[in-house]
Amino acid sequence: MTAGLAGRDAALDAASRLVAGLPPAPAVWCSGLRKRYGKRQAVADVSLEVGRGEVVGLLGPNGAGKTSVIKMLLGLVHPDAGEVMLLGQPAADPAARARVGYLPELFRYQPWLSATEVLALHVRLSGTDVTPAQRRDVLALVGLGDRAGDRVGGFSKGMQQRLGLAVALVARPELVVLDEPTSALDPLGRADVRDIVLDLKARGVAVLLNSHLIGEVERVCDRVVILDRGRVAASGTLAELLGQRELKLQLTGVSAAARERLAATGPVEREGDWFTVALAADEDTAVPALVADLVALGAQVHAVEPARITLEERLLGILRSASEARSDTEGSSR
Ligand SMILES: Nc1ncnc2c1ncn2[C@@H]1O[C@H](COP(=O)(O)OP(=O)(O)OP(=O)(O)O)[C@@H](O)[C@H]1O
Ligand SMILES: [Mg+2]
Repeated sequence: MTAGLAGRDAALDAASRLVAGLPPAPAVWCSGLRKRYGKRQAVADVSLEVGRGEVVGLLGPNGAGKTSVIKMLLGLVHPDAGEVMLLGQPAADPAARARVGYLPELFRYQPWLSATEVLALHVRLSGTDVTPAQRRDVLALVGLGDRAGDRVGGFSKGMQQRLGLAVALVARPELVVLDEPTSALDPLGRADVRDIVLDLKARGVAVLLNSHLIGEVERVCDRVVILDRGRVAASGTLAELLGQRELKLQLTGVSAAARERLAATGPVEREGDWFTVALAADEDTAVPALVADLVALGAQVHAVEPARITLEERLLGILRSASEARSDTEGSSR
């Protein structure tokens, strides 16, 4: 009997050592999510993953299902089908949700409370130990340091959004989900959010964010998932979605040797003084090395510009080709 128990303990020990050695489970994992509202299929089939410390952008037109997916991930809407794991635990588990910060799309905080009181309330709800100094730091981080004692009812919409961000961040989450964090923010506020997201990523916090400001998504996200009519229309890293990086150079005095050096980098196109060369890989050293070599080979370098199709162009391309494919099948089925 004792020997049996000892054997079981040893096996449990070995199992927990094995599990401890595994990489941590993704911050978000979902598979086959579906949701119907009446006759409308809001989410038809969505599977996605957000790794630890990864920043993933959820993009798509109005009504594509982004907010519905986010709400199902957070257990706020019950999916008709599909599975969700948050930080390695089923999304329904309150322990997993306690480590998630969330900025909802449409929110109203109690207008009679001050910003400090709203934060204190959310800290209490999260059950996390957050000191008053840490709360003040979060308000300062989102630019509300000097409005901490003011009633939320008197806040502008941008200030309310900043407070929402503070609420999402205050309990030191391991995953932050932001549903349109910058829709009401001024350009400085948007830059602040960008810095905050990059800082979260540097600290290993995963971020899933949804925004119609594609340029911002492009600046902060490692990966993008594009939703269209409740389905994943495309997904991948920015490099995968946007293809190769190109470099545009304005050059004069290009010797044969300099031309060879350009061609060694990648396929070259020329229009007058402008040379466009495809870069083989996203190597940090490729551009300075190329410019240094061209100068050494006697070329005069007037301009060097990175060039790549923007995420916005790519997104529009994906959505338009999906809509053309739909009208083709509708046309042929008539
Ligand atoms: N509670 C609800 N009741 C009925 N229909 C809903 C509900 N929530 C969402 N829908 C429908 O589900 C679809 C997806 O809505 P959702 O809010 O997920 O879109 P979204 O991609 O977040 O759009 P937006 O960019 O406008 O925020 C829409 O057709 C919407 O009308
Ligand atoms: Mg939405």
